[in-house]
Amino acid sequence: MGKLTWFGHATLGLETCGFKLLIDPFFSGNPVATTRADEVEADFILVSHGHSDHVGDAVAIAKRTGAMVISNHEIATWFSKQGLQKVHGQHLGGGFKHPFGYLKLTLALHGSQLPDGSYGGNPCGFLLSTNDDRKIYLAQDTGLFGDMKMIGEENLDLAVIPIGDNYTMGPDDALRAVKMLQPKTVVPIHYNTFDLLNQDADAWARHVEEATASTVVVLKPGDSFEF
Ligand code: NI
Ligand code: MN
Repeated sequence: MGKLTWFGHATLGLETCGFKLLIDPFFSGNPVATTRADEVEADFILVSHGHSDHVGDAVAIAKRTGAMVISNHEIATWFSKQGLQKVHGQHLGGGFKHPFGYLKLTLALHGSQLPDGSYGGNPCGFLLSTNDDRKIYLAQDTGLFGDMKMIGEENLDLAVIPIGDNYTMGPDDALRAVKMLQPKTVVPIHYNTFDLLNQDADAWARHVEEATASTVVVLKPGDSFEF
């Protein structure tokens, strides 16, 4: 069993087999977050790319909780320079058996400059095989790409994908993504944070459920669901 919490934007909590993962922890300055950075718990923090709405409060939360931060090599090195000692760098296509499961970094079509202008390497998504054999794909910020079909060959229990448009896939491309990924359950993110990202997630959910065999779970910031 696992539990996914959406904190708003692309910020997620994932509980699996006794481990608490926090993904792209953007709380301070996030207009839709209902949770504060100083109250979240984490054993591991995953950061998909260098943009400030994804690096967010990662340094402060890692320092407070002692969580290990996992990202690409360039961002992991940058976190070390911010004073974090528990960091783990990987890269696209590379997997590693962490205590919480086997985590592989996947392709993402996006940018990755860090908040101070440093080079942040290539952006990524995450493909996680949990210790209880669940397959979870967290696309984070990306445009649509055809290799999602290959990720869909993994028999995904859960996919989390952006629908906000402008910086990432919009609703139409996100529907095409679901057709390639074929997850049992899909959760939309990266929308309604700012006016620029406003989308009707309930309408998108109806379209997806008409056109695919996937179930859509639309969450409100702060809400969780078990899978
Ligand atoms: Ni971004
Ligand atoms: Mn973003």
